Amino acid sequence: MIGFGATACEQSKAAPAAGAAPAPPTAAEREQYDRYRRPELLLAALELRPGAVVADVGAGRGYLTQRLALAVGAGGKVVATDIDAAALAAIAPAGPGAAPVETRLVQPADPGLEPASYDLILLAEVDHLLPERAAYLRRLASALAPGGRIAVSNRPLYRAPLLEAAGRAGLGVASESRALPAHFLVLLTPETP
Ligand SMILES: C[S@@+](CC[C@H](N)C(=O)[O-])C[C@H]1O[C@@H](n2cnc3c(N)ncnc32)[C@H](O)[C@@H]1O
Repeated sequence: MIGFGATACEQSKAAPAAGAAPAPPTAAEREQYDRYRRPELLLAALELRPGAVVADVGAGRGYLTQRLALAVGAGGKVVATDIDAAALAAIAPAGPGAAPVETRLVQPADPGLEPASYDLILLAEVDHLLPERAAYLRRLASALAPGGRIAVSNRPLYRAPLLEAAGRAGLGVASESRALPAHFLVLLTPETP
């Protein structure tokens, strides 16, 4: 499936000539991709409150970033991170009534997030690309504000390795949504000792 939030990792469209920008997706391709990802169902399942502080880790070209910014509103904040500067540069500024979006270029093993600051940290189609999943999840956990959650969504084949890594990182499954047709969505929280 062609990824619009994705950078090179998902694009299966015919590669453009060297140096040329990939052709923008057609409206039909966008619709097909939205039917596959169902972003409106993902956002609903996150139950974000207005004013929340959110991190979109591995945001790519911002397929979900704008939707997150609209969900938390002008009083909230969204930090979109990626290891790919070109992808981050493609993220459009947030529209009226949406939270400001800060883009942040990060290193593969470092989430680059402030400690104890985020109400929600989203990993959408990213965890399978992380060098050391358990260590990375542990670092994300230290960036959570009290009561904060880590939301992970990906294709079903990545669910078991993700849950295994979450356990090693001291994270438990607070809830799981089955609303998405082609992806799992788990909400993780630190396990109390
Ligand atoms: C498949 S795309 C998903 C993009 C977006 N989250 C979405 O749901 O459409 C994966 C993105 O993760 C980024 N990525 C890969 N490893 C990363 C890491 N260690 N830290 C941050 N971003 C990373 C890639 O550059 C790419 O933009």
